[in-house]
Amino acid sequence: APKAIIAPSILSADFAQLGADCRRTMEQGADWLHVDIMDGHFVPNITFGAPVVAKIRKHVDRPTESHGRGTFDCHMMIAEPKKWVKEFKNAGCDLYCFHYEAAFSSNAESPEGKSDEKTNPKDLIRYIHSLGLLAGIALKPMTGVEVLTELLESEDEMERPDMVLIMTVEPGFGGQKFMASELPKVQELRKKYPELNIEVDGGLGPGTIDQAADAGANVIVAGSAVFGAKDPAAVISVLRSSVNS
Ligand code: DX5
Ligand code: ZN
Repeated sequence: APKAIIAPSILSADFAQLGADCRRTMEQGADWLHVDIMDGHFVPNITFGAPVVAKIRKHVDRPTESHGRGTFDCHMMIAEPKKWVKEFKNAGCDLYCFHYEAAFSSNAESPEGKSDEKTNPKDLIRYIHSLGLLAGIALKPMTGVEVLTELLESEDEMERPDMVLIMTVEPGFGGQKFMASELPKVQELRKKYPELNIEVDGGLGPGTIDQAADAGANVIVAGSAVFGAKDPAAVISVLRSSVNS
């Protein structure tokens, strides 16, 4: 399996001192920063947009290699993911992870066979790659992994996602309870794709990491478990050693 990547979610940081919190989290051993963008439509909550990302980018060194330290992993919980790619690229996003469900926003109920040219995930991944960003695709708890088969097995690397995010809570808020019911999705993906970066997000911490790591996740998001800890560096190191063991 690919290497462990620990990506603290700054949703649980102090928004009044985001720059300092981001810098400190990196010093405490984070690999990436997970940046949750919520628009109040796709999810019932609002966070912040590209201008804030551009400001915090100045506090964290840019990655020197693809998937490297300091990667800004932008989790786009927004209804119109295509519309914001350029803006987030200019703000300093490195990995643009959109929701499969939103790529079909006009037809969220039955995406199969009804995608239109502008919003299908394949074209969106292509577009993200054409701008020089890594592309991720996220699945909410109700969405099965079979919707990704064609993308993951594409011969054309421009339309293959660089990462899949399996949500282990309903997106929208930090501090929710981990849903172990989502782990079979991780297992299935890991079995079929040994080298795929598989990210889990929601309710991860020292008490739940072993299940997620056993299922095959290697990119670990943790918000409240890191920012709420007395010793965040210790939590980051527990998460890392669980994935590596
Ligand atoms: C939830 C966000 C998560 C959130 C996780 O919609 O996508 O990234 O910050 O928070 P915890 O780790 O507290 O569950
Ligand atoms: Zn997230």
